[in-house]
Amino acid sequence: MERTFVMVKPDGVMRGLVGEVMSRFERRGFILVGARLEMLSREKVREQYREHLSKPFYPSLEGFITSGPCFLMVWEGRNAIETARRMIGPTNPREAAPGTIRGDLAMETGRNVIHASDSQESATREIRIHFSDEELAEYRGADTPFMYEWSD
Ligand code: RTP
Ligand code: MG
Repeated sequence: MERTFVMVKPDGVMRGLVGEVMSRFERRGFILVGARLEMLSREKVREQYREHLSKPFYPSLEGFITSGPCFLMVWEGRNAIETARRMIGPTNPREAAPGTIRGDLAMETGRNVIHASDSQESATREIRIHFSDEELAEYRGADTPFMYEWSD
């Protein structure tokens, strides 16, 4: 099944929203395969957000992401990448619909609580930046037979 990288940013960790975010992914039917709290180095932030390095907002983004701990997760599920993006909502939380994580929990683009990979390529790359294979678990959650129709 597909895997995606999801990260609660320092605003979300410091506001005590890690459990809220994890709960939404669990209840939706995602399976947790890896997780860790970490103060990210500037080098890792540069790798993760490399497509934004030349953007005017990059210095403030790097400063913010390194201002406190991030909660790093890998979630597995059918169409995990697209589904996670729909769950988090658009970049600007004021444009995010109620029911999305940003639409329910955030007000500012620069304090938007959560990151999720936006493509298969970025999911593979971002998982590799933050997790080794030994840190990722392979199992079927207890609810899996009730959440998914298995054809394979
Ligand atoms: P993310 O990568 O964190 O999941 O967010 P995203 O895909 O929704 O948005 P992206 O365009 O990748 O931007 C990455 C993060 O940079 C900050 N940002 N600030 N105009 C601005 O001031 C601006 N644009 C982007 C946001 O924190 C955004 O989540
Ligand atoms: Mg992005």
